[in-house]
Amino acid sequence: MRWWQEAVVYGVYVRSFADSDGDGVGDLDGIRSRLGYLELLGVDALWLSSFYRSPMVDHGYDVADPRDVDPLFGDLEAFDALLAEAHRHGIRVVVDLIGNHTSTEHEWFRAALASAPGSPERARYHFRPGRGPGAAEPPTNWRSVFGGPAWTHVPGPEGEPGEWYLHLFSSEQPDLNWTNPEVWADLEKTLRFWADRGVDGFRVDVAHGMAKPETLPDDLRQPGWTPLGDRDNDPRFDDPGVHDVHRLIRNVIDHYPGRMAVGEVLVNDDEAFARYLRRDELHQAFDFRLRNAPFRADDVRAAIDRTLRTFASVGAEPTWTLGNHDAPRAVTRYGGGAVGTARARAMAMVTLALPGSVYLYEGEELGLPDVALPDEVLQDPRWERSGHTDRGRDGARVPMPWDDAPPGHGFSTGDPWLPMPPEYGRLAAASQLEDVSSMLSLYRRALDLRANHPGFTGGSVEWYGAPPGCFAFRRSASTLTCALNASTVPVPLPPGDVLLTSTPLRSGELPPNAAAWLI
Ligand code: GLC
Repeated sequence: MRWWQEAVVYGVYVRSFADSDGDGVGDLDGIRSRLGYLELLGVDALWLSSFYRSPMVDHGYDVADPRDVDPLFGDLEAFDALLAEAHRHGIRVVVDLIGNHTSTEHEWFRAALASAPGSPERARYHFRPGRGPGAAEPPTNWRSVFGGPAWTHVPGPEGEPGEWYLHLFSSEQPDLNWTNPEVWADLEKTLRFWADRGVDGFRVDVAHGMAKPETLPDDLRQPGWTPLGDRDNDPRFDDPGVHDVHRLIRNVIDHYPGRMAVGEVLVNDDEAFARYLRRDELHQAFDFRLRNAPFRADDVRAAIDRTLRTFASVGAEPTWTLGNHDAPRAVTRYGGGAVGTARARAMAMVTLALPGSVYLYEGEELGLPDVALPDEVLQDPRWERSGHTDRGRDGARVPMPWDDAPPGHGFSTGDPWLPMPPEYGRLAAASQLEDVSSMLSLYRRALDLRANHPGFTGGSVEWYGAPPGCFAFRRSASTLTCALNASTVPVPLPPGDVLLTSTPLRSGELPPNAAAWLI
C-alpha cells in the first residue's frame, strides 16, 4: 500500500488558514504554527493551494514564477521550514502544479506582448488572428470558465489588426501552448524543483486542460450551457493530447520514490475520466461525484457505486471529497443550519468509511458554512467576469476561526482579507476542542478509528437492504458497516456493535440525517 492510497489529505487554502504577520492574509509560517492542530486532528498529508509568485488576480492560480514563493505567503526558506516541520509531525505535503496557464506577469507573457505575431515568444501561448471584418472578432466562440469570452485582444502596430490570446480562466491567465517544447521543459523543471526540495506530491491544476485541439474548433454545444455544466463534447477540455502531458509528469515523478500526483479532472464521462488514471498517468484524480450528489440515499449510493466502478476499471484506488476552495461548503450545500450540519456530519462518516483516500477541506472539520458576503468585499474574478451574476467562491474561502475573538478569530491579529461573521466564534477550533459533541470531536474520533481500527479494510463495499431513504454498506474485508438515514423518520440499526454515530441514537434508533458505524 502506498501512502496516498488510504490517506486523509487536508486541503489548506493558504490565504485563509493562519496569518503569522498580521496582514490579514494567511501564510506559510502561519500553517507551520498550526501543525500541532493538524496532527491532533489526525490527517496524513496537507495539500497546499498555490503559494507561488503571483499578482493574485486568481489568488495565486495566476502564476508569475512557479519556482518561487509569493512574498505575501513567505519565501523559500519559510517553505523549507514548513516542509521539514510537517515531516517531523508525520504529515506529508502536496503542492499545486499549474500547467494550463501562467499569469500575464510571467516573464514569458511579457516577452510575448513585446514581440511580433509569429515570433517564438508568442508561440508559447495561443495567439491567433481575429475573425470577421477587420479581424475584430475572437478566433473562436469559446467562453472563459469564469465568464465572458476566452480571448483577449492585443492591438497591433498602427493600422494592423493585432492578435488575440486564449485564456480559459481570467484574462490575466493566458493559456500555455502545449505543442511547444519549451512549455514541456519548463514544467519538468518545476516538478524537479519542488520534488528536490522534498515535497511528497503534486496536485495538478486543471488536469483536464493543458492540451488543446490543433484546429481550435468552435464550441458547438447548445446555447445556454453553463461553463462548468455540460463537460462532454467541450472542445476546451479533455483533448487526447493531455494524456501525453500526464505521461511526462508521471515519468518525472517516477524518479522520486514515494511521490505522487493527484489531478483535478473535471470530466463527466466515466471512461474518459478513467483514462487519466492509467498506470503511466496520474496516481489519483479528485472525484466530485459524491460531492455533487444531493443528500438522498439513492443519489449518494449511485455516486459511490459510479466512483468505485470507474476507478476499479483501471485498477486505481478511489478518492472522495466533500469540498474544496472552489465549491460551496458541505453544510450549506446540504441545506444549511442545523439540518445542513447534521447531514454534513453524516456524510463525513459515509466518506471516511469508504475504501481509498479522502480529501478534506479546511474548516470542514469545524462545520463551517459558506458565508453570505456583501458585494463590496467579493474578490473572486468570477464576480466581475460574470457581470455580477455569479458570486464566485469567496463564501467558501473565509478564513479559519481559531478562537472566539473578533475580528480575526485567532486567524490574524489584523483585519482578515474577507470578513469573518460573528457565528465563527462559536464554530472556532478552540470552542469545539473540548466539546465531545462538536463537529471537530466527531472528525477527530472518526479519523482515529479510520486509522487505527482493524475494521477499515477491504477495497470494495457490499450493500445491505435498508429502509426507504436509507442505505447500509459493509467494507468487503471486514464487518465494519456504515448506515445512513437520509429519510425523515428514525430507523432501526443494522446488526453489530455501534462504534460511532454522527448524532446520538434515539431509543436505540438512528435519527434522520445521521450515520452510524457498526462492527
Ligand atoms: C483550479 C483551481 C481554481 C483556479 C483554477 C484556475 O480549478 O482549483 O481555484 O481558479 O484552477 O487555475
